[in-house]
Amino acid sequence: MELEKIDGLNIQHHQQSKRIINIQLEDFIVEKLAFNFKKFDILTLEYKPFARFTFANVLNELTSNQMSNYFMKILKDRNTGCLIVNPKNNISIVDQDFLVKLSTAITHLIGNPNHDSMAGKYYARFHVKHLDDSDSYLRKPYINMDLHTDGTYVKEKTDWLLMTKLEEKNVKGGESVLLHLDDWEYLEKLSNDPIGKQNFIWGSPRSKNVEYKVEHPVFSKDKNGLTQISYIDQFPEPKNMEQGLFLQKLSNALEGSKNKIETKLPVGSCIVANNYFWLHGRKPFEENKNLSRELLRIRGSFFN
Ligand SMILES: [Fe+2]
Repeated sequence: MELEKIDGLNIQHHQQSKRIINIQLEDFIVEKLAFNFKKFDILTLEYKPFARFTFANVLNELTSNQMSNYFMKILKDRNTGCLIVNPKNNISIVDQDFLVKLSTAITHLIGNPNHDSMAGKYYARFHVKHLDDSDSYLRKPYINMDLHTDGTYVKEKTDWLLMTKLEEKNVKGGESVLLHLDDWEYLEKLSNDPIGKQNFIWGSPRSKNVEYKVEHPVFSKDKNGLTQISYIDQFPEPKNMEQGLFLQKLSNALEGSKNKIETKLPVGSCIVANNYFWLHGRKPFEENKNLSRELLRIRGSFFN
């Protein structure tokens, strides 16, 4: 994909993959955003969905009304589908409040967020720390979080996801891991396996606050006949031996891929990815009693 030139944005390919577009906000954009973001506090964004669009519109107007179309193009293009936005310089007005508002603005340029049942609002903030007594891999610092897509166990369409790194302290390891489906060596073989097209049952542990289970296959086709994946290791409930063994084979083939991108995302980065053909995960952290990372996530559907 040709990189566009938009005033106020420094747009580059990611060092490790041309499929990921890096977008840095110049200081004057950050300053104008911060000024406009004073208009509403975060509670207002939570309570009044229309206020989120006001912020999204500010962001779009600051980029000559081009950001919305450009982001949509990157995210829907099968050859890319992933972007990383961050302020170019680490200036003091970029605090956690700013990042929550920026994340909100970005997502409302491309679609509507799903209700996040874990947090009870349109976004979730969560910490990864040394000690954890939760029931999923999300907050387990010293275990690999395997490659997966989001929204596998909910009824809502999950076209995209955004993750923002709000804070990080005493962190070694914990790199983000990404894989584009078309870079995966085993795509053909596994997506053509008839078991991958069967319906699987997907549940979730208690912390997710989702009472129901859903059924869908791991692999499906988009309207152009291209393969899509909906998969996470922890939540499918295999009905029988063949489904169980298929999932094990799939898990091994994903984790064994040589084409995974392992990258350190700096604090203040927002990564947005198409959830049908990008998988994401995290490497284990090195043990540290004072380890702390805080993330924000938003998932949702594209505007029609
Ligand atoms: Fe995830």
